[in-house]
Amino acid sequence: MIVILDFGGQFVHLIARRIKDFGASARILPYATPAAEIKKLKPVGIILSGGPAAITGKNAIHPDYKIFELGVPILGICYGEQMIAHHFGGKLAFRGDQRQYGKEMMKTSKHSELFKGMKTDEQVWMSHGDAVTQLPAGFEITGSTEKCPIAAFENRARKLYGLQFHPEVAHTLNGSKMYENFVYNVCGARKDYSLKGLDQLLISEIQKDAKGAGVLIAVSGGVDSLVTAALIHKAVPEQLYSVFIDTGLMRKGEVEETEKFFKQMGFRHFEMINASAIFLGKLKGVIDPEQKRKIIGHTFIEVFEKKARELGKKAAIGYLAQGTIYPDRIESAQASKAADKIKSHHNLTLPEKMNLKLIEPLKELYKDEVRALGELVGLPKLRVWRQPFPGPGLAIRIVGEVTPENVRIVREADFIFRDEIAKAGLEDKIWQYFAALLPIKTVGVMADERTYEYIITLRAVTSKDGMTADWAKIPYDVLEKISSRISNDVRGVNRVVYDVSQKPPATIEYE
Ligand code: XMP
Repeated sequence: MIVILDFGGQFVHLIARRIKDFGASARILPYATPAAEIKKLKPVGIILSGGPAAITGKNAIHPDYKIFELGVPILGICYGEQMIAHHFGGKLAFRGDQRQYGKEMMKTSKHSELFKGMKTDEQVWMSHGDAVTQLPAGFEITGSTEKCPIAAFENRARKLYGLQFHPEVAHTLNGSKMYENFVYNVCGARKDYSLKGLDQLLISEIQKDAKGAGVLIAVSGGVDSLVTAALIHKAVPEQLYSVFIDTGLMRKGEVEETEKFFKQMGFRHFEMINASAIFLGKLKGVIDPEQKRKIIGHTFIEVFEKKARELGKKAAIGYLAQGTIYPDRIESAQASKAADKIKSHHNLTLPEKMNLKLIEPLKELYKDEVRALGELVGLPKLRVWRQPFPGPGLAIRIVGEVTPENVRIVREADFIFRDEIAKAGLEDKIWQYFAALLPIKTVGVMADERTYEYIITLRAVTSKDGMTADWAKIPYDVLEKISSRISNDVRGVNRVVYDVSQKPPATIEYE
């Protein structure tokens, strides 16, 4: 097993993800976990993650430095790398306004175990403010880029390695291979992790946990709640109570289609609640993105709780199932206090006052593992690999106030976008694609008349996990069709733009 110490970096869970991808076990622990506790897990290697703090600054956070005496190889990424350099007597500089973000080419040293089998020039992804300017004694440089002369270093005798860039991000093209080299060649880890048989294991755990009483779940049509519900349905079909809340913020056709799908799956106690009026009413006049997310989250809980109480009068409900996946726990529970809050996700744990025990069968899994598991339990491929759709729905794709009129505009435009992407056979090639509304009026002309209407922005990205993303290179002729259909058919829009921003610095959603 490889232990990953979490210093609050945005990409921490991707490190574990990459390691599991090639068959080794990985466990994320808080950065200050005592070395003695880490030792008990018998790790074959330790990875120190990145994080928002600066090792030379007032906000510096530290591990138990006895980890360096455990005798296992240690790899530091970004903050972790700077910490190794600092701890062993190297020098660092705060680069301030020269912060580095994005792709760079790095010259690699052939004899580093980490870069075995790689080219002399490798594309890497940088995202940092501090940088190491002088190495401690006994260390050597193994990688440098034009802007960052010490991009990789190591002390082979002590098996200490540092990388200034992020290998876990897909834009570091050979990043997985770097981890693989560390995990197998440097640490000698065993291949002891696999998904096979996980479905049966989870099903029997649910059967053991959910004794007798009903299991309640809110399904959204999304993958996580669907796979959770499917597992429970296999485990205790008669005990499953599923509720689908129409927030009024769903995509075109989604409500009808989801209802049909759940009925076809043979879910016995399935209920649909149309709560559009409640959600839209509460969102009236609200423009702040975080406020919108909170209102939607709270309203969802209110509507769901009311239903739960109603159901509780008819049947003995004892459990609440949630499709919480591993990154949700990291992002909303803030497993490490060090993580900077980016956006508050609305997949919160329902309040304890419902007095229900939680069942979260996917809580240790990543999105692509959930999808593979979905296939294992027999869900249609198209369903489990569909593009992500956020809990707050179209509300975070309408910049500014969510009004019924704005929902109509974005919903129609989004439908056209999705339709044309499907017709062009591009569904599998783009990770996520949607239309958003920029409620800024600009001048246009239609049938010789001046118009003054809104802008629709098209967002389409390629990504592996949503943590980083690149804008999709959709062919011009496809964009042309989408643009003319939207501006001709969607009332209230006279201009369509294509978003060419990468994440970071932009996010995928607009709010
Ligand atoms: P951002 O906009 O942060 O999005 O780059 C990354 C991925 O997360 C999705 N997303 C959400 N999913 N509830 C969700 O279930 C949310 O509140 C939420 N916000 C963003 C987004 O669609 C993208 O896939």
